Amino acid sequence: MAKKKIVVAYSGGLDTSVMVKWLNDKFDAEIITATGNLGQRAELEGLEEKAIKTGAVKAVIKDLRHEFVTEYIWKALKAGALYEGEYPMATAIGRPLLAKMLVDIANAEGADYVAHGCTGKGNDQVRFEVGVQTLAPSLGIIAPLREWEFKSREEEIDYAVENKIPIKITKAKPYSIDENLWGIAVECGVLEDPTNAPPDDAYQITTDPKLSPNKPETITISFEKGIPVCLNNSITDPVEILEKLNEIGGKHGIGRLDLIENRVVGIKSREVYEAPAATILHKAHHELEKLILDKETFRFKQNVSDKVANLIYDGLWFTPLFNSLMAFVDATQQNLTGDVTIELFKGNMTTLSRSSAYSLYSKELATYTEDDKFDHKASEGFMKIYGLPYKTMTQLYSATQVKEVA
Ligand code: ARG
Repeated sequence: MAKKKIVVAYSGGLDTSVMVKWLNDKFDAEIITATGNLGQRAELEGLEEKAIKTGAVKAVIKDLRHEFVTEYIWKALKAGALYEGEYPMATAIGRPLLAKMLVDIANAEGADYVAHGCTGKGNDQVRFEVGVQTLAPSLGIIAPLREWEFKSREEEIDYAVENKIPIKITKAKPYSIDENLWGIAVECGVLEDPTNAPPDDAYQITTDPKLSPNKPETITISFEKGIPVCLNNSITDPVEILEKLNEIGGKHGIGRLDLIENRVVGIKSREVYEAPAATILHKAHHELEKLILDKETFRFKQNVSDKVANLIYDGLWFTPLFNSLMAFVDATQQNLTGDVTIELFKGNMTTLSRSSAYSLYSKELATYTEDDKFDHKASEGFMKIYGLPYKTMTQLYSATQVKEVA
């Protein structure tokens, strides 16, 4: 009988390296590793060789950066999706794409299972497994970290050494880090105590605002239909726009977050994030919406932003509700075209200018000078009707009170 095939989500780190061998032994299966490049800086070179040495029959590495930005990040940006009002969700947005990659590779290779290296208490297991189930209901899913015998990093290292798995034996890492183009998430170690301020070494890509340049830097982002199409009138490639914004924003200490958040499984966790590009782009996009969207659409969209963020965070990317809400979001973005100029300085962002051919801002209506075209008289009748329910109420109550006294 032909051996079963398992596609393993693989980073080349300790957990996923041990996983390849462990799955190989436990299931007597052929292991195909799958790695997606979402812009993490971790070494992808030599990964294929390493996977094969660890016991995989094949290693697939896919450059998903462009797809990640245009099909995933831009959607979250247009939606204004910030989980619990703050977290731009680099990790959460990357998982559905990685789930899709696993399914695509499993289909191409005729695999029976996919496996991932997520723990049993995190959000990522939910995002991977709900994604895979939705896209390919008949694929089996294995989560070795939820069931294997290793209780510590040391036990995994012993197993790796015994089985000649090529790993870099490093000192215990101080943090667990997940990174892609939309940002970095850092947790564990001293950060597990929320009374501890994040030590300097928790931050990977941003300068401490206290040590950042003493001179501000100005950037201009041009949007078309809600999507950034150009940075500083020169960079137009979506991946390069994000790389450049991470670099410039990081230099000025933009996009640091230290959050307590509610996980899907019900626990609260503490995580430090760095997301310079995401923070700048959300700010610029929001500025443009304030200029262009009519009042009711702007107000209603705030609720939609929150709901979309929850769906993304909770692993419900490939769902009818997500698609329906994105259809609404896209409709709101039809005129979201224009430029925003922002100054970056010591961890702060200041909007210097916003402009659009679709701007609803009318100087004639807003001005307090003699050019004023606003009909002040019209306000009088408006207020009479607008305040009528409350006027009626107070009249009634005071009449009742008078009666009681009498
Ligand atoms: N809490 C974040 C989320 O659920 C990030 C999870 C991964 N974090 C990490 N440091 N490995 O989206």
